[in-house]
Amino acid sequence: MNQPPLPTLIKGHILRFKANPFENPIEDAVILESTGAILLRGDKIAKIGQFSDLSALYPQAHVVDYGDKIVMAGFVDAHVHYPQTGIIASWGKRLIDWLNSYTFPEEMRFGELGYAQDISKAYLDFITAHGTTTVASYCTIHPQSVDAFFTEAQARNMCVVAGKTCMDRNAPEGLRDTAQSAYDDSAALLGKWHKQDRLHYAITPRFSPTSTPEQLEAMGALWDANPTCLMQTHLSEQIDEIAWVKELFPDARDYLDTYEQFGLLGERGLYGHAIHLEPREKDRLKETGAGLVHCPTSNMFIGSGLFQTAALAQAGHRIGLATDTGGGSSFSMLRTMAAAYEIGQLNHTPLHAAQLLWLATVGSAQTLHLEHEIGNIREGHFADLVVLDLGSTPEIKQRSMRANDLWEAIFPTIMMGDDRAIHDVWIAGRSVTQ
Ligand code: GUN
Ligand code: ZN
Repeated sequence: MNQPPLPTLIKGHILRFKANPFENPIEDAVILESTGAILLRGDKIAKIGQFSDLSALYPQAHVVDYGDKIVMAGFVDAHVHYPQTGIIASWGKRLIDWLNSYTFPEEMRFGELGYAQDISKAYLDFITAHGTTTVASYCTIHPQSVDAFFTEAQARNMCVVAGKTCMDRNAPEGLRDTAQSAYDDSAALLGKWHKQDRLHYAITPRFSPTSTPEQLEAMGALWDANPTCLMQTHLSEQIDEIAWVKELFPDARDYLDTYEQFGLLGERGLYGHAIHLEPREKDRLKETGAGLVHCPTSNMFIGSGLFQTAALAQAGHRIGLATDTGGGSSFSMLRTMAAAYEIGQLNHTPLHAAQLLWLATVGSAQTLHLEHEIGNIREGHFADLVVLDLGSTPEIKQRSMRANDLWEAIFPTIMMGDDRAIHDVWIAGRSVTQ
């Protein structure tokens, strides 16, 4: 991999956000410079402007010309399970049966460090090919599954969030920890990895059915002692799951309360799915500024329900977008945006292409509290970029050629695009293809 000398000037159609397209007119939310350029210095974005201006100011810069391709921030996938790579697209089950039949047996294998290393490498290769530059991943209960993932991401200079998944009940023998060991192992892992290079630790109780109240309390105490960490879990994904939570926690006001009463509700909390929410839950999530993570391919694949993206975004919730591999059926954030559009249609609220791209970049970065460094093209941000080809297949090309404006040109790639639409990816100022 030969890298160009620095500084580098990337030329193309530069697409970036200056405001939230759920709260502002699209034309006020997006900036597109059609002969734009980004000056990179080291791993960061140093300047953004017109190519003519920047090339005059920096005549020594190495120019990488992407012509009429779109250059934007790399995709941010706010909820994944890298250990489920090998069981993606497993047939015919709903959530609890799917976990017991496919997920738990596979997660058992991550006790072996070599296996965790192999899957970490394969997973990070897959997502990079799909233009994703940051993920927030669950690992397994095994500390070595966390070590393997962070080690591989660090070697690639990637910004990732991850944590040891904690479960002390309703999981098979060999896949259970205890309240104490979950606390001790998580504390040791976050001490080792949190804020090392571009790595961030998330305290990770899987979901309340697989944690005793004692374990949830221990996780709440750990978060309280380490408030710069994120906390990730699942919330109100399927109706049967919610009924089970009611049985397990008869005194809780609702599903969210099983977290809230143990100190597991907060601004740095990430709540995956959040589909079937009670009014009190919505109020509390909004008041605390917690992040809701929409996982549309997963919600259709496991048959979970319709997340209310437009209504929740307009109500001011912090919302990210995610594949949820392997409950989700794709590693691709393009496919995930398409699924979010389809769920929006079923809710009678079609999302604009700009809103979909925003959710997959700035929105997700905001849920991870990393919006000051990733998810947009801004001076001082890391140069994590994706270069999109809007004519990557004959089918897409014939449609985008008829487009009357940018959004009509981009939408076919969102709906029909795959890794062939990903012309290039930059991670921390380095192209993965050059
Ligand atoms: N709820 C608890 N664990 C999981 C998981 O691994 N995937 C999904 N989709 N939901 C969950
Ligand atoms: Zn999940």
